[in-house]
Amino acid sequence: MGREGARTEVLNEDFAERRARARERLDALDPHKLPGGIEADPRRQEWFEAVYALAKDDPAGVPWADLQPRPLLQEWLAARPIAGLRALDVGCGLGDNAEALARAGARVVGFDLVERAVQWARARFPNSEVDYRVADLFNAPDEWRGGFDFVHELYTLQALPETLLPGAARALASFVAPGGTLLVISRAREDGEDLGGPPWPLARKDIEGLAVDGLRLVALEDIPPSGDLDHAAFGRSRPNADDVIDSSDLERASREKPVSTFSQRALTRHWRAEFRRDEAGA
Ligand SMILES: C[S@@+](CC[C@H](N)C(=O)[O-])C[C@H]1O[C@@H](n2cnc3c(N)ncnc32)[C@H](O)[C@@H]1O
Repeated sequence: MGREGARTEVLNEDFAERRARARERLDALDPHKLPGGIEADPRRQEWFEAVYALAKDDPAGVPWADLQPRPLLQEWLAARPIAGLRALDVGCGLGDNAEALARAGARVVGFDLVERAVQWARARFPNSEVDYRVADLFNAPDEWRGGFDFVHELYTLQALPETLLPGAARALASFVAPGGTLLVISRAREDGEDLGGPPWPLARKDIEGLAVDGLRLVALEDIPPSGDLDHAAFGRSRPNADDVIDSSDLERASREKPVSTFSQRALTRHWRAEFRRDEAGA
């Protein structure tokens, strides 16, 4: 499917309803939604596989598939040149963020654990310069070690159980070349606050915990909800405090008056964190 087709799907009135149904189905088979379920699928691999398999070819079935790059990534890219850099997009899903990195001039590898996701991304962007790969963050190809000037991770860490975060931090750090940058964007919570999950919004300590193996945290933005929701789409003049839409929240929209447009600028609280590895010998 080309980009125009993809956007039409987002604007289709039934999209939110289909997503709501998919979310219910997926929650019902997510062991992490049940007490003690963690042992059943500790890395959530079976669940991620199920998401893409059950979606068939409908992106409404993939809860995080917005079919456009995330605004917080786009905003960051607008202010910083990455042209010519070797870039890695972690957990690339259907490819929109990886494509944004490529449009910004980077030479991009995008990878995902789920083969179906990678095939789908390739099919959506048949003329893409992104090298889409099937790979596991926790068992990545050796040649990626120190191989990227810019590593981008958005919403994958928050989809993983907390016990996996230290290993994920080491894996992310391992990809960053001397002088390179890791950019992490995730939903945010207070230290000690329990917002439920999955997904599990990250606490400041989780973000700080990514500064391992020579990576330094050089910028941390705590981004409040923008409140820039398209209220008209919800048939109300004022939003509720939790009227926020991003990839995981479209189902909420469907419980309101059917929506025909979505504002992707309305966000929950987020972190945008930048880590750097110093040049060798610096
Ligand atoms: C919540 S989605 C986010 C997708 C994308 N980054 C976005 O912003 O839309 C997490 C993605 O990470 C992938 N994933 C989960 N565990 C992974 C792992 N161990 N290695 C690589 N990808 C993984 C999932 O298949 C899924 O596509």
